[in-house]
Amino acid sequence: MNPTTAASTTAAASPTAAASPAPRYFALIPAAGVGARMAAGGPKQYLPLAGQPMLRHTLNAFLGSALIAHTYVVVSADDPYIDALLPPSGVTVLRCGGATRMDSVRNALRALRDQVGDDDWVLVHDAARPGLTPALIAKLIAGVGTAAAGGLLALPVVDTVKRAAPGAAVGTVPRDGLWLAQTPQMFSYRLLTRALAAATDATLVTDDASAVEALGLSPVLVEGHPRNLKVTLPADVRIAEMYLADSSD
Ligand code: CTP
Ligand code: MG
Repeated sequence: MNPTTAASTTAAASPTAAASPAPRYFALIPAAGVGARMAAGGPKQYLPLAGQPMLRHTLNAFLGSALIAHTYVVVSADDPYIDALLPPSGVTVLRCGGATRMDSVRNALRALRDQVGDDDWVLVHDAARPGLTPALIAKLIAGVGTAAAGGLLALPVVDTVKRAAPGAAVGTVPRDGLWLAQTPQMFSYRLLTRALAAATDATLVTDDASAVEALGLSPVLVEGHPRNLKVTLPADVRIAEMYLADSSD
């Protein structure tokens, strides 16, 4: 037994030792992208969707969840739009967005060093997924439980998957065991910080779970919902609006 383990065992056995506080759940929303594929003439997270800016819908999902201790949103240093859509309370803006999503998350974790404990959970969620609901947040948190590797919402692949050699199918990839990653993706502050510090190639780390997988860990997959799509291309706007108009899912 190493000294650290011995010390914590002793403390736990002592009747006078203070219980460590229950881990809290924090939302961290990267919203520092430019929306190049949407080509809307401005960052897509501010596009109006069903009467409200996309990011406001995203924030509302976390504000509506009693499980979330606080919500942080990461924007570019010179973002001129965020202040106008902030709710009166419950959200803190971090103006430290980076060149890639990974950089934005990494910078935000550094900024939160004194607010979030090592054992607290961080739920990282794309601003561009406005269809998230408090029920999906609760499902993720329950599904991950205390799993050390954390976990994420994801959807099993339903389509037949082709491998292409430019423009033509050269093979069919068995879809058994294939999932499409969504967000939120939740990890302890300690693990996520470690994983992103170890990740060097931002083109390989397109989500937080891939950085954790690169450490040899296996985050839990919790089935999400199609309404939690990422609004990426112009055609996604109508689908997102359809879900946002309907809260029955
Ligand atoms: N994001 C970020 N910082 C970046 C790039 C992306 O915080 N440097 C955020 C986006 O704002 C978005 C989420 O990461 O909420 C997912 O990224 P994506 O859908 O790719 O958004 P964009 O990068 O804005 O879009 P595109 O790749 O088409 O430019
Ligand atoms: Mg992007």
